[in-house]
Amino acid sequence: MAAIKHATVIGSGVMGAGIAAHFANAGIPVLLLDILPAGDLPRNALAEGAIARMQKTEPAPFMSARAAKLVTAGNIEDDLSQVTGSDWIVEAIVERLDLKQALYAKLDAVRRPGTAISSNTSTIPLARLIEGRSESFQRDFLITHFFNPPRYMRLLEIVTGPKTDPALTRIVSEFADLQLGKSVVTCKDSPGFIANRLGVYWLQVGVVEAIDAGLSIEEADAVIGKPLGIPKTGVFGLIDLVGLDLMPHINASLSKALPAGDAFHAANRELPLVNKMIADGYTGRKGKGGFYRLNRAGGGKAKESIDLATGDYRPERKAELPELAAAGKEPRELLRTLLSSPTKIGRYAWRVVAQTLVYAAGLVPEAAEEIVAIDEAMRLGYNWKSGPFELIDTLGTDWFVDRLEQAQLPVPPLLRAALGKSFYRHSDGLRQYLGLDGAYHELRRPAGVLLLEDVKRVSSPVLKNGSAAVWDIGDGVLCFEFTSKSNSLDEAIITLLGKTIPLVKAKYKALVIYNEGTNFSVGANLGLAIFAANIAAWSEIDKLITGGQQTYKALKYAPFPVVSAPAGMALGGGCEILLHSDAIQAHAESYIGLVECGVGLLPGWGGCWEMLARWSTGEQLPHGPMPAAAKVFETVSTATVSKSAAQAKELRFLREGDGITMNRYRLLADAKARALRLAEGYVPPQPIELRLPGVAGRLAFSLAAEGFHRRGLATAHDLVVSDELAGVLSGGPADIVDAVSEDQVRGLEREAFMRLMKTRGTLARIEHLLVTGKPLRN
Ligand code: NAI
Repeated sequence: MAAIKHATVIGSGVMGAGIAAHFANAGIPVLLLDILPAGDLPRNALAEGAIARMQKTEPAPFMSARAAKLVTAGNIEDDLSQVTGSDWIVEAIVERLDLKQALYAKLDAVRRPGTAISSNTSTIPLARLIEGRSESFQRDFLITHFFNPPRYMRLLEIVTGPKTDPALTRIVSEFADLQLGKSVVTCKDSPGFIANRLGVYWLQVGVVEAIDAGLSIEEADAVIGKPLGIPKTGVFGLIDLVGLDLMPHINASLSKALPAGDAFHAANRELPLVNKMIADGYTGRKGKGGFYRLNRAGGGKAKESIDLATGDYRPERKAELPELAAAGKEPRELLRTLLSSPTKIGRYAWRVVAQTLVYAAGLVPEAAEEIVAIDEAMRLGYNWKSGPFELIDTLGTDWFVDRLEQAQLPVPPLLRAALGKSFYRHSDGLRQYLGLDGAYHELRRPAGVLLLEDVKRVSSPVLKNGSAAVWDIGDGVLCFEFTSKSNSLDEAIITLLGKTIPLVKAKYKALVIYNEGTNFSVGANLGLAIFAANIAAWSEIDKLITGGQQTYKALKYAPFPVVSAPAGMALGGGCEILLHSDAIQAHAESYIGLVECGVGLLPGWGGCWEMLARWSTGEQLPHGPMPAAAKVFETVSTATVSKSAAQAKELRFLREGDGITMNRYRLLADAKARALRLAEGYVPPQPIELRLPGVAGRLAFSLAAEGFHRRGLATAHDLVVSDELAGVLSGGPADIVDAVSEDQVRGLEREAFMRLMKTRGTLARIEHLLVTGKPLRN
């Protein structure tokens, strides 16, 4: 097998369907098989049903409608022989050894040797799975453990057996990394592999210790959450999310597989409360609720939570954490103070954290070759900000070991070996981790991975102010990074961008606009805009709009290539910066949109023109200028945000030739490579003129908007906003607008923006959003 071009996924349940969808997201055709349905339903009903359901599921398993078409349904009775056409067969059927083995026996007879076959099992050892199989089957077999939901969870655990072909493993790993965007962590063939082995232990300890300490679930989740860099779902909220009913199964399976001396057994207590909740249908968010629920009795929506002592629901209570108020902000001090607090909550936090970190230290080398794999697995499999060994570094190894000894808890050899040291360190600009041998080893990023985080650790910014910084990422390329809160755009960013342009022109080859925040940019800083509006500093707002327009335009026509590389949200002004770039290299999970109308404004930094240009050129729409303007009107007036980079292409925020990177770690390197390719013989774009639909077009848009208003789909202020948008997109007051320049449209944008900024309806929308975080429909 040279490459993976076709896949079969067997089992179309939660995981199998999601995995199939994600292969399709990578552009790979997939055959999805399941058993025959009961009764006289069509033979492919199970897989067909799964594909249909996924097209309605949120968050969506498919990145685009095109991807959904790549999955074909079948069943294992009629279609098993078709697996010969696949380069990788993924088995994701129920977690039962006998059923998996029976399926493998059939596959062994029909599949093409040399193609990969893997199991998505979460607990069954590889050695058991391949019992009785042919040599060639064993050579091609591995475990590929995806996390739920497969599109969004970045971790992929891989386990190979002694006979697995290393070349095949390499092809599968590379495909998973580059095309599925996963971070591959190699695990030993031990029960639960890495993330679930530690994660399930942590959850179990979190639950039993909370019960023993008499804590409320709100208190437990508040402390074993944000303060530790763990998602705010904490322990109980996460179990609700995963499903309470899965807990006893996973625990039983781990318990059966783990050796007698494993600390898991002590924590794995029968929990009558959980059993009763499951029996009563309280299986978590997918059921009637779990530890938390929304009580809709009497037509209400009361938030309630389980009282761990009585097992009854009561109104949800926000937890108070005075332990944190005293702790200061510095991470080490905060954590040490919290874990030393002599309160009920402090003692609980200590017991959960201490046992979890000790357990983690016991997993090397049994479950993982090195600590690095455990940290990565917990960061990506459980969304922890820091892995367990990074947490120990935050606490300080000596402090932690000292506290363990005082508490008469066991100190694993790995922790003892780290006394007087940290698990990670930086030496001569290199990142190093502590190996089992007590020596430091270099932590190399794979080829094609470039992180700004690493650049920042070893260099100083070329330019910098309070909201942005510019970094030299090598080979003549600069990287412009937003550093403001949520990467919102403000005057300082525009100013620094303005200074960056001549600098690149003078000394560098290209510019990449990129950052490593959760979101590329949430758009302009509305707090500043409303402040200016409240003191009627209109000229300040006008200056910001004009300044932004000029700078974005200068970026577009600069004599060097600009590549923007978004990940997460790129909204409003953050989207407009993409639209002014020569090319976009987007992470597959990019949520792009011009959302200004939602707050009663319209794109004011050239976004209207750029979208008109995108819809008027390239693959053209027939019948004159109206269809292109109508597409932009539809997208912008409804504040449409793409749910993936693939969808952003359909909406033309991305152009056909723009790139999509599946693996977040590879985004900057891909963007830089694209910028360098463009720099060869670079010629800036030539200004173009567009034909716009004129007054008649504006009238048509307004009529459409009024229609929406009459049907209750648009509010009164929506009409005001869409009328202004229609004015800009139709090209202004002229009758037939034959050739409109971008400056003309930018002028219209600016005037309309300023008029809207002065309306009560818009100010009310902005204020409401800033105060409540939710849009106002006025
Ligand atoms: P599921 O119960 O949602 O789906 C299992 C599917 O397999 C069903 O559609 C069933 O009809 C089908 N099936 C059963 N026997 C079959 C056979 N002999 N041939 C073909 N299809 C068959 O299960 P889920 O949750 O999708 O789990 C599948 C596998 O993935 C299990 O090994 C599980 O341990 C593992 N896993 C589950 C995760 C989760 O969060 N649910 C996470 C990671 C791994």
